[in-house]
Amino acid sequence: MAGPGGMTGDMEGRQAAPDENIDSILTEDRRFQPPASFSSGARVRSLAEYQALRDAADRDPVAFWAGLARAELHWHKPFTTAFDDSRAPYYTWFGGGLLNVSYNCLDRHLAGNAEKTAILFEGEPGDVRHISYAELHRQVCRFANALKARGIGLGDRVVIYMPMVPEAVVAMLACARIGAIHSVVFGGFSSGSLRNRIEDASARAVVTADGGHRGGKVIELKAACDSALSEGCKSVETVFVLRRTGSPISMQPGRDLWWDEAEANLADQCEPVWVDSEHPLFLLYTSGSTGKPKGIQHSSAGYLAVVAATMKWVFDIRDSDIFWCTADIGWVTGHSYIAYGPLASGATVLIYEGAPTVPDAGRFWSNCARHRVTIFYTAPTAIRSLMKFGESFAARHDLSSLRLLGTVGEPINPEAWMWFHRVIGHERCPIVDTWWQTETGAIMIAPVPGAITTKPGSCTLPLPGIDADIVDAEGNSITDPGHGGELVIRRPWPSMLRAVWGNDKRYRDTYWGKFGGHCYIAGDTAHRDRDGYFWILGRSDDVLKVSGHRLGTMEIESALAAHPRVAEAAVVGKPDETKGETIFAFVVPRGARPTPEAAGELSSELRAWVAQQIGPIAKPEQIRYADSLPKTRSGKIMRRLLRDIARGVPITQDTSTLENEEIVKQLQGES
Ligand code: WT7
Repeated sequence: MAGPGGMTGDMEGRQAAPDENIDSILTEDRRFQPPASFSSGARVRSLAEYQALRDAADRDPVAFWAGLARAELHWHKPFTTAFDDSRAPYYTWFGGGLLNVSYNCLDRHLAGNAEKTAILFEGEPGDVRHISYAELHRQVCRFANALKARGIGLGDRVVIYMPMVPEAVVAMLACARIGAIHSVVFGGFSSGSLRNRIEDASARAVVTADGGHRGGKVIELKAACDSALSEGCKSVETVFVLRRTGSPISMQPGRDLWWDEAEANLADQCEPVWVDSEHPLFLLYTSGSTGKPKGIQHSSAGYLAVVAATMKWVFDIRDSDIFWCTADIGWVTGHSYIAYGPLASGATVLIYEGAPTVPDAGRFWSNCARHRVTIFYTAPTAIRSLMKFGESFAARHDLSSLRLLGTVGEPINPEAWMWFHRVIGHERCPIVDTWWQTETGAIMIAPVPGAITTKPGSCTLPLPGIDADIVDAEGNSITDPGHGGELVIRRPWPSMLRAVWGNDKRYRDTYWGKFGGHCYIAGDTAHRDRDGYFWILGRSDDVLKVSGHRLGTMEIESALAAHPRVAEAAVVGKPDETKGETIFAFVVPRGARPTPEAAGELSSELRAWVAQQIGPIAKPEQIRYADSLPKTRSGKIMRRLLRDIARGVPITQDTSTLENEEIVKQLQGES
């Protein structure tokens, strides 16, 4: 049985040289069959039904997806070309079709479900709101009219920098209503990160709030926004400001408008703009292996069709469900499984503004109990951190409404899986471990809960239509159980990214450059077991997963190097029991290496600096100083060596090519 040690041990495999096989040491042998009571009422009731769906998709993928897009979406004008690969890798889906995403998420539910709660909101201070589909429709239309009144229209970019309140979703849907392209920036990012994203997308408007409640504090979003806009950002004409906390803020006349004033006297009806299937619905910036985050561009129809389908396949969504995904709206999980998926399905979705530990470590369970949550979707890091507080917090709340649990963002170690299963699911709820990415738009590999036997730590099998595979350096399938390789998806699917905003080369090189053909490269390493189950090992590129958040090592290195006291920096991930990974930085200072006393002070300064440059999530946990960094003859930083040093394990890499072997001792903190 593998413990967390087993999982992290496995992660040794990440960033292995492409020609190395990655041998797994994971030997988890527990199995959990779908409970009969769940399967009998599920949308997909058995392995045979799941297999039939997969077979149909494999026989004729294009026909399969076309049928699904017709079934899942309301089309203003039907599409004529289901799939076009003539400009590969710029694939297009459902060409000739016209639709509106907000219409699909709102209007089509008004006939039968107008008074059903769409959004059930709970603020961190405890304020609760129930917003029906009819009311959400009115709010979206009114705000769409406010955007229009400021000249925003088809194809314009709008940056949304908001707390976790319903208006964040209203702003997204209002953009979709008029064909504007939103780019949500996580409220925990700094003003510098916000500025970069505004500039890269040339946004015409920013939607923000006076603040948000998080961890008992007020997050000052408007102040960060002002600081972002104080330099550059010439494209921004309007800043909409929601009143949430009542914190004192400054408003720039002409540019800044209070949300309520902007929409006062505007109609609560707004004709949807019918857009082409491929019209960009949103950009979402995510970290890669260079210093600059990339704007992942998603389509309208293909994205929504697969997101809606996965609500059925993976979450078995029902009219009576109360669905809660704890992600922030600033990540793709929030886009697909707070906003678009649940609303396209006509579901009731819970939005919670704050931290899991306010007023105590039972807040998630209290929320589940009070709102009778039936489906609960969260991150392994959240489970691990709540586990540390013991079982009593969960035991205090009635969790009998839960019927299905889910995880996403990073591999879940079997211990956390078992705790989730026993303490939260009372051994009654299936767990869906869902593998996907910002780029894939929707869940790709996950157990269909009524059909698939689960194993703690495995995301199990690909969903219908998803041709996931694991390959060696030449792109050949690795079928040997336990041998790892690169995770790929061998054919395009409708919810895949369409572009990296403003950077075609990066789109082609990062995702399609390696194995030729139509093979998508995920950037993860994985292996399969005897049953063909997928086990994700970690990233194969220089991307870290800190508490499930994706951060580029280069991004953090560039931030560090921008500090006047830093000459050069290298950052690696260090396995951590709660956070998955923490950030370990090696810094070459300008001038002399600091004395041990001075080092503490410099480290606090650098940590604060990185928080200010990127956001608090990017702060290095540990910093070590040296006179230089270990490099190969070609000048490449020897990252594997640095990772070994960060972990405090014996060095496995050959160091004979190092110019100055003494450096290793310095890096190890011994001199
Ligand atoms: C990366 C994508 C997709 C929403 C949240 C993160 C890792 C994601 C799992 C999982 C193991 C996982 C991968 C992936 N990841 N889900 N169930 N098991 N690893 O989106 O920020 O784009 O990160 O998260 O490494 O590539 P993202």
